[in-house]
Amino acid sequence: MILAIETSCDDTCVALLREDGTVAVNVTSSQAELHNRYGGVVPEVASRRHLELINTVVDTALEQAGVSFKEVSSVAATSGPGLIGALLVGLTTAKAIAAVRRLPFIEVNHLYGHIAANYLLDRPPDFPFLCLIASGGHTLLAQVDSYAEYTFLGSTLDDAAGEAFDKGARLLGLPYPGGIEIDRLAEGADRTAFDFPATARTAKELDFSYSGLKTALAYLLKELPEQEIAARKADIAASYQHAICRQLVDRARLAVRRTGIRELAVGGGVAANSELRRMLAELCTEEGAELYLPPTELCTDNAAMIARAARHLEPTPYPDYLAFDAFATSQ
Ligand code: KG4
Ligand code: ZN
Repeated sequence: MILAIETSCDDTCVALLREDGTVAVNVTSSQAELHNRYGGVVPEVASRRHLELINTVVDTALEQAGVSFKEVSSVAATSGPGLIGALLVGLTTAKAIAAVRRLPFIEVNHLYGHIAANYLLDRPPDFPFLCLIASGGHTLLAQVDSYAEYTFLGSTLDDAAGEAFDKGARLLGLPYPGGIEIDRLAEGADRTAFDFPATARTAKELDFSYSGLKTALAYLLKELPEQEIAARKADIAASYQHAICRQLVDRARLAVRRTGIRELAVGGGVAANSELRRMLAELCTEEGAELYLPPTELCTDNAAMIARAARHLEPTPYPDYLAFDAFATSQ
């Protein structure tokens, strides 16, 4: 079994993957409530909390799977990109577990993890496929040619789509993390009620830009009388959400047309959004493409995707990995 740890942001995650690639257990301990009072993740608070939780979450995973350390044949962890202190807790714990038993170790890129969530589907995508990754820290389109090769076709020039959700939610007075709050509030509301600039122009057609959208929401909330904001909050949320999703869907459509690849996968927390999932299904029907949608718990950060990614990477034997370091940004 592969034991995998993911601590790149504010979720303490441990998973165990069987030799056949199926998930034995996938435990995620969220810190959302802890960070809610600050309106976003506080890196130092996140690292300290990971440190308090990690051993318990490892024990819980082993217990739930009904296995002991003896049955673990390799250990994996996210080494970046992410919050450096948070990453170091998971990476160091994973290296220590591996080193004690002289097990091989696999370091995993978090973004590749989000792609690999699609390999956990009963029917995974065929190579080559496109993958739209939209999370709190990243928004990009990747072309995945094999387990080992992927290229980024475009990425955000400023805010990530998840950041647009979270910052928008904050402006609307909703708790952190804001994506799911906007998703819930927007349900059944009028997404055409307010006009937001959906598709920002970028020099590279497949790049994204979200800072203008957040500013547009801030201006709208400044202009509208308070009573109207209160009365029409759900419509504002639905219109704002629709604008975020439209840009993602427009770029994905363009990527399908430019590459001729008719396999579209998704990943990242924003891929849990119900409006986005609905719009992507529409897009794929219109373009004659196949859509791959991991269940929402595999879209948001989790360790099962890290274990699945690790399965296709070359393990490093003991003790060569002891000096492996975490990195905050993609090189
Ligand atoms: O992938 P993820 O769990 O962590 C990062 O790697 O960043 O993504 C977290 C992001 C947050 O911005 C959160 O608000 C957003 O995903 N998110 C959603 C939904 N669930 C999570 N955004 C929109 N709708 C959702 N249902
Ligand atoms: Zn993520």
